[in-house]
Amino acid sequence: MAKFILNGKPMTADVESDTPLLWVIRDELDMTGTKFGCGIGSCGACTVHVNGRAWRSCITPVSLVEGAEITTIEGLSEKGDHPLQISWQKLQVPQCGYCQSGQIMQAAALLKDIPEPSDKDIDAVMGGNLCRCMTYVRIRGAIHEAANAIKENNDEQNA
Ligand code: FES
Ligand code: FES
Repeated sequence: MAKFILNGKPMTADVESDTPLLWVIRDELDMTGTKFGCGIGSCGACTVHVNGRAWRSCITPVSLVEGAEITTIEGLSEKGDHPLQISWQKLQVPQCGYCQSGQIMQAAALLKDIPEPSDKDIDAVMGGNLCRCMTYVRIRGAIHEAANAIKENNDEQNA
């Protein structure tokens, strides 16, 4: 039996301990925003947060996250209004959309670590998230846009 917190709610799933977290999230708990791409940790489509860090859920045995706080794209914000979700819409980043939840989750982890990332920072952290539709330039722009929005919001609150 796997037990963890998913998007703020305690969850249990009757699965083997070596079941990949991605299967548990999608197939047992019906959270399908997180996608399966390669299954070997190489594309980033399955990225979720585990205790606030970006993890590849396809190669994470569920036993490794026992008791952890897991956040998926469905839990990133209450109303789909995380600054990254807003900037993603504003810059119309997605094309087919398949990789995008993983991209946003990876970007959210990036902005926690580096609130004002340079292009180089973005390329270094986002380089493991592949997009067959080649939306990389818009992804980079949307991360800058979100970083600016967060900064402006913080500046306003501190004024
Ligand atoms: S599906 Fe997990 S990294 Fe590709
Ligand atoms: S938007 Fe199509 S794979 Fe990224």
